[in-house]
Amino acid sequence: MARANPRSTDTPRDAIALLKEDHRTVKQLFEQFEDADETQMSAIATRVCQLLTVHAQLEEEILYPAAKQAFEEEESEEELDLVNEAAVEHGTAKDLIAKIEAMTPEHEAFKATVTVLGEYIEHHVKEEETELFPALKKSELDLKELGAQLFERKAALMEELGISEEPLETPRGRSRSGRSTTGRSGARRSSTAKSSSRTARH
Ligand SMILES: [Fe+2]
Ligand SMILES: [Fe+2]
Repeated sequence: MARANPRSTDTPRDAIALLKEDHRTVKQLFEQFEDADETQMSAIATRVCQLLTVHAQLEEEILYPAAKQAFEEEESEEELDLVNEAAVEHGTAKDLIAKIEAMTPEHEAFKATVTVLGEYIEHHVKEEETELFPALKKSELDLKELGAQLFERKAALMEELGISEEPLETPRGRSRSGRSTTGRSGARRSSTAKSSSRTARH
């Protein structure tokens, strides 16, 4: 059958814009997770693991090989190291994802494992956005063409893995301001958890 129908906001764009948008989406989900009550945790963790799985596969299948080829041709050793390190970090992230997917929120280590994954991804994303992506912009790579490939493959993978294109509906997910006024338990937790998690991350 035809692949998932991309939403109007998902128009093809350059590779870096597309990947950065994924990064922002998972960052928001990790933030929601930290403020979530137990009924929301499972859905948020499932969604973030699914999206990271697709994102990692996209980079491993399309971005990293193209980057390696470009850097090899340019004999850019440091940039090649960046790609190799990023691929190793994906392996660690996937181990954490597999652990989370094998757990339920009742597991003692569930919340901690998701939090550690979030911190690990934050580190990985920072390296991609501040080192790898700027190096790609300077390379000979056609980022528009690469973006089109990523866009097509992402839609196919989302469909193959049965992942919805729609954003997760959570009380905070619905609120653009990030301030939830719905959900008694969500509001209760966020009043305490939000301030501590925000300050701890700076
Ligand atoms: Fe990555
Ligand atoms: Fe990435």
